[in-house]
Amino acid sequence: MTEIIINGIDDLPRAARAFLDHKGPVNVVAFYGSMGAGKTTFITALCEELGVRDVVNSPTFTIVNEYRDGAGHPVFHFDFYRINRLSEALDIGLFEYFDSGALCLVEWPEMIEELLPDDALKVQILVEDAETRTLLF
Ligand SMILES: Nc1ncnc2c1ncn2[C@@H]1O[C@H](COP(=O)(O)OP(=O)(O)OP(=O)(O)O)[C@@H](O)[C@H]1O
Ligand SMILES: [Mg+2]
Repeated sequence: MTEIIINGIDDLPRAARAFLDHKGPVNVVAFYGSMGAGKTTFITALCEELGVRDVVNSPTFTIVNEYRDGAGHPVFHFDFYRINRLSEALDIGLFEYFDSGALCLVEWPEMIEELLPDDALKVQILVEDAETRTLLF
């Protein structure tokens, strides 16, 4: 188990870099955490570290956003909070995204738990206090 402590918003770039250095070669990363825990915020910091210049926002109406990292590789950002059934995830071609080898960053993976690849990296985001978050993976 790896633990990364995020000491407030200003610490996000360092924490994102540390996460990328420790995550290994996995391409599907599932972020678990209560509502408002900081999933989108951390994914935004990760994307900045990866050189993404697109605006990173939770894909509220679309399930998936596509960005390009600094090397031009696609990065996919999913939010499954609002899906009602697994078929909605399958209909967007979920397995094609997961199998593409591109980095897939997933919010609310609980909603599609049975569709996650076996080698997905599962990351817990814990709220310690107003300023502090802990990442466990
Ligand atoms: N590391 C942090 N330190 C301090 N505040 C943070 C941190 N991460 C997130 N926040 C704050 O918490 C709030 C919610 O963050 P965010 O939207 O990222 O949560 P979320 O887990 O994506 O929520 P949702 O479940 O709605 O998708 C934001 O106001 C954000 O500024
Ligand atoms: Mg979010």
